[in-house]
Amino acid sequence: MAPHSTVDGHLSNGVGVHGDTYANGVNGVNGTNIANGISNGISTSNGTHNGTPGTRHKRTPHLLKPSDPESVHDLLCIGFGPASLAIAVALHDSLEAGTLKEAPRVLFLERQAQFHWHAGMLLPGAKMQISFIKDLASLRDPRSRFTFLNYLHEEDRLIDFINLSTFLPARTEYEDYLRWCASHFGDVVKYQTEVVSIAPVKGSDGPLKTFEVTSRNTKTGQLTTHLARNVLVAVGGQPSIPKCLPAGSPRVIHSSQYANTIPKLLTDNRAPYRVAVVGAGQSAAEIFNNIQTLYPNSRTSLIMRSEFLKPSDDSPFVNSIFNPAFIDSLYPRSAKYRRNLISEAKTTNYGVVRLELIEHLFEKMYDQRREIGPDEKQWPHRIMGGRRIMSVNEVSDGLQIKVCLAPPGDDDFDVTGYEGEEELLDVDLIIAATGYQRSAHLDMLRDAWHLLPESQPESKPMDDKWHVKVDGGSNDSVPSTRVLEVGRDYGVRFSQGAVAPGSGVWLQGCNEGTHGLSDTLLSVLATRSGEIVESIFGTGAPQQQN
Ligand SMILES: Cc1cc2nc3c(=O)[nH]c(=O)nc-3n(C[C@H](O)[C@H](O)[C@H](O)COP(=O)(O)OP(=O)(O)OC[C@H]3O[C@@H](n4cnc5c(N)ncnc54)[C@H](O)[C@@H]3O)c2cc1C
Ligand SMILES: NC(=O)c1ccc[n+]([C@@H]2O[C@H](COP(=O)([O-])OP(=O)(O)OC[C@H]3O[C@@H](n4cnc5c(N)ncnc54)[C@H](OP(=O)(O)O)[C@@H]3O)[C@@H](O)[C@H]2O)c1
Repeated sequence: MAPHSTVDGHLSNGVGVHGDTYANGVNGVNGTNIANGISNGISTSNGTHNGTPGTRHKRTPHLLKPSDPESVHDLLCIGFGPASLAIAVALHDSLEAGTLKEAPRVLFLERQAQFHWHAGMLLPGAKMQISFIKDLASLRDPRSRFTFLNYLHEEDRLIDFINLSTFLPARTEYEDYLRWCASHFGDVVKYQTEVVSIAPVKGSDGPLKTFEVTSRNTKTGQLTTHLARNVLVAVGGQPSIPKCLPAGSPRVIHSSQYANTIPKLLTDNRAPYRVAVVGAGQSAAEIFNNIQTLYPNSRTSLIMRSEFLKPSDDSPFVNSIFNPAFIDSLYPRSAKYRRNLISEAKTTNYGVVRLELIEHLFEKMYDQRREIGPDEKQWPHRIMGGRRIMSVNEVSDGLQIKVCLAPPGDDDFDVTGYEGEEELLDVDLIIAATGYQRSAHLDMLRDAWHLLPESQPESKPMDDKWHVKVDGGSNDSVPSTRVLEVGRDYGVRFSQGAVAPGSGVWLQGCNEGTHGLSDTLLSVLATRSGEIVESIFGTGAPQQQN
């Protein structure tokens, strides 16, 4: 069964994705309780959450050209999350508008068994952190059939949505919108297909024209190869678990696994489970809140490096860094300028929480103070700010975490030799809500590293490029350092003359250091996908060589 398969909109353990099972869940935070919303008569008739084909309006066929798997594709996209889906939409819209004359041969390879968007974090009541107008199409072409408004229209919910008076749909509804878009492109997507490598295809002399993409069927393990002139890598983030946590332990999970895994790990909703959540971002706060609702007798701790939970800044001046045009002003700047600006604007996105949830959690803490008294160690639910994890050890009935106090903001704080106040926490489960890394493309491209330009080694990792070491081969006997950078058009910059015009590798979602904070988000997907389609297939694009 798919990890978060839904039956009547409920997770298999009874976690209500509509939010109606837990009137007290995350959805209790914002006043617009979903318990009185979607599940209460509005648009429940059309299979909103299970996406079963046939329960909705008939799909309009897309204009992309399904290709023979043996042929050389014009474009192979790795990953079919929102970034690649936006490419499919932009291609369709360009063909429909006639700006693209001929349908390219395109294939999308996705490792999940079907379309899901952060399924492990589809929590009841969680809201989008972005206006629905920043959907997959509107900013590029508000008349596209793939806008969020057209989705609502086709699902017969437009008027009801208007009456919600919000720009921020429920995350479950947005996932349903994305799935609705994805369902149009089923015949150009191969699911259950995990890409493992992208290698140059050796030909006769001259620049490289074709890449070979190797993938593994996630069910059977069988390896398959596909050929393509252009490969777009849009694989999103990879869960990051800090070294202080025993990543291999079955009692440690990452936030991205939360909704899928928790019902299997903590099976008794009445049990007094002890759970520690590590992190101070939106994922950490949502899980800390949700677990208390799912397991009313639990004892939970939120262990954070920062002293306080801090609100995400979505005020209008700051928000302009997510404007599509901002990329044009940021990209040409110096590495130092970009780094400083991104660091200054970090509180728009990283290690921050929406204010409504912070206020809700503060109220919970206040209630404990009022009911139990000021000694926080007696409270079932604690927010432990300004802490570092010194060690985690297995004990007979779980894990024991040793935490210490540490100055906030001191990234180099070393727990060895620490002599201050320590505390031991016994837990059944640790949930690492510790964010994501974005470097999967590096390993995937290992066989193509020798096509990258040589560079001086750097003493520390850079934010806007990656350095890799190429072993000396028979023709290239001296090991060398190569640099992987992308241009403004998201294309990897190979050595001069190494790759033929009309062929290339394109990266999405890992270019924050050059293209800004919007790169990992949904903010610019409508415009970015249009730019990429234009770069690869537009009239100004280099002509493919035969
Ligand atoms: C819980 C959560 C909520 C969020 N909410 C918002 C929000 O409200 N607004 C916002 O702007 N951003 C939000 N984000 C940020 C998020 O990164 C973007 O919304 C969006 O998911 C980016 O799309 P993507 O396609 O780049 O990456 P992803 O959504 O991560 O998609 C990548 C896809 O690639 C697939 N894949 C990975 N590796 C391989 C491989 N080797 N082979 C084949 N397929 C592979 C994955 O299965 C996945 O389907 C949220 C993030 C999280 C974690
Ligand atoms: N509602 C939504 O739409 C929603 C929900 C969840 C996530 N998201 C999005 O998803 C993205 C990721 O959010 P996220 O909350 O998963 O991750 P995040 O914002 O990157 O936060 C990671 C947290 O982990 C902490 N951390 C990292 N390494 C640590 C270590 N070694 N020890 C202790 N703590 C450590 C960080 O601490 P420091 O702060 O000290 O660095 C930070 O608080 C963001 O774009 C976010 O907006 C959106």
